[in-house]
Amino acid sequence: MNYQDLGNIKLLDMKPVISNMKADIIAGLSKKNKQLSPKYFYDKKGSELFDEICTLDEYYPTRTETSLLNQHIHEIINLMGDRPVFVEFGSGASEKIKIILSHVSENTHYAAIDISKKFLIESTQQLAKEFPYIDIMAICADFTKEITLPEIEDYQTSVAFFPGSTIGNFERNEALSFMQNVRKSLRKSDGFLIGIDLHKDKKILEPAYDDSRGITAQFNLNILNRINNELNANFNPDAFKHLSFYNERMYRIEMHLESLVDQSVRIENHRFDFAKGERIHTESSNKYTIDQMKILFNNSGFELVEQWIDKDSLFSVNYLQAT
Ligand SMILES: C[S@@+](CC[C@H](N)C(=O)[O-])C[C@H]1O[C@@H](n2cnc3c(N)ncnc32)[C@H](O)[C@@H]1O
Repeated sequence: MNYQDLGNIKLLDMKPVISNMKADIIAGLSKKNKQLSPKYFYDKKGSELFDEICTLDEYYPTRTETSLLNQHIHEIINLMGDRPVFVEFGSGASEKIKIILSHVSENTHYAAIDISKKFLIESTQQLAKEFPYIDIMAICADFTKEITLPEIEDYQTSVAFFPGSTIGNFERNEALSFMQNVRKSLRKSDGFLIGIDLHKDKKILEPAYDDSRGITAQFNLNILNRINNELNANFNPDAFKHLSFYNERMYRIEMHLESLVDQSVRIENHRFDFAKGERIHTESSNKYTIDQMKILFNNSGFELVEQWIDKDSLFSVNYLQAT
């Protein structure tokens, strides 16, 4: 494998094919049931709004997962074994891995996989300043594809890390193929630490995606501003409203943007008509019961070794072993 040495980190660029935003958006809005991919939420403003959501009283996932990781860190470290190689899928700001890296020895390697190369380099270089004794590799790759992990000397256990219930953003069949791909990148007995949000009463779920300060609404509507700014479109965000609800049959939160009036929108020479009340489906966040998780783990070549759930049964952190 050819790495580039970037001073305090190594970079392995697998050159993921980045899809064409304009073609994706036009294809999504041309469907009978209009939709936009949630990956387009994250321009600078969208990322800032998402960080703000994570601090809201109603948004329990981030603080519950962080507190589970902190509370059980010694058990987690014991399960992982000595001198592991941690591989995080979709590392973003590499925040949660800090809880683990603060408790490991010098012989630890951390590989951060993310599709967004610039942000990946910046955040791993920052992490390397905070943890100069950890060997850090940034891998620019698409985690929805099979990834062959680099062989690292002194390699004992490899542990994949996938926090934040990001698995919930995949449809159920996509979640299974993702897990199967992770399994292929590991060896028998390697570990997988994964955070998964639980199915629960909609009285708790719905406010988490429709907070009283309207930050989630701003986050959802910001996708229209982004399309205006980057694709020369003429959406009027004031003519749409944020709508989110728990679809109990599908075990998923759905976020939509609902048109408040009959209207037409242009993206260059493409015209999209909206009837009053028509919706654009912008995101699904799938929730899991304990049984659904067990089936997912078993069907993808893992066994559940330990599961930590908070006292209110909101969120789960799971340590799996490859079988
Ligand atoms: C919400 S952040 C997760 C942050 C981090 N795991 C944490 O908990 O601190 C999700 C990250 O996944 C990355 N991502 C999204 N789709 C991806 C893909 N297909 N392949 C690789 N990375 C992806 C995004 O760029 C983003 O940085």
